[in-house]
Amino acid sequence: MSKVLYIKANAKKPGESRTFRISDSFVEEYKKINTNDEIITLDLYKEGIDFLTEEGINLHVTKPGEGKDHPILKYAYQFVEADKYIIAAPFWNLSFPAILKAYIDYICVTGITFKYTAEGPVGLCQGKKVVYIVARGGEYSEEPANEYEMGERYLRTILGFLGITDFTTIAAEKLDVIGQNVEAIVQAAIKNAQSTAKKF
Ligand SMILES: Cc1cc2nc3c(=O)[nH]c(=O)nc-3n(C[C@H](O)[C@H](O)[C@H](O)COP(=O)(O)O)c2cc1C
Repeated sequence: MSKVLYIKANAKKPGESRTFRISDSFVEEYKKINTNDEIITLDLYKEGIDFLTEEGINLHVTKPGEGKDHPILKYAYQFVEADKYIIAAPFWNLSFPAILKAYIDYICVTGITFKYTAEGPVGLCQGKKVVYIVARGGEYSEEPANEYEMGERYLRTILGFLGITDFTTIAAEKLDVIGQNVEAIVQAAIKNAQSTAKKF
């Protein structure tokens, strides 16, 4: 049985996010096949994830005795205990919503999700896998605009730092480009999500 963490980062109302239409389809398909897996939904806006405070920064060194019920550390423990991650976040200002970065600042904790060694830092989330699901207004998967894409690139890098190298992206693009058949693009991404979920 795997533990799957479904991380959602969008301020939109339920039903209005194209990203979540795609990611929810992924989760539904995944559930059909992996009936015994535990899926934990973590909606970052509902959680009220906030910028790190001074207290939070000071936690980012190993503090033996800090429990899993700590308001910030609990997210790092929850993250490291999962086997798979579904990250659903729209493309905002060439990246993803800031709340997702704030969450990443919560989960990158020395001694929980990575550690320092004499040979340098080592990720403690090895062997896990992630799917990143994103809806974009424009097109950034092709040259030259891919240079401006900072969301996927950052996530790949920071999760690689934590030891996670199995990273798949499902992107729906050109959703705000006039003249596009938006519904057809979303449906194609849903199809992609469903087939990816079967192998995830
Ligand atoms: C705050 C904000 C910033 C955005 N920045 C970009 C951007 O830099 N590039 C782009 O192509 N689309 C941008 N968009 C458009 C969204 O990526 C696009 O509408 C996407 O479908 C939103 O996903 P959603 O339907 O899940 O909310 C932005 C939208 C918002 C609300």
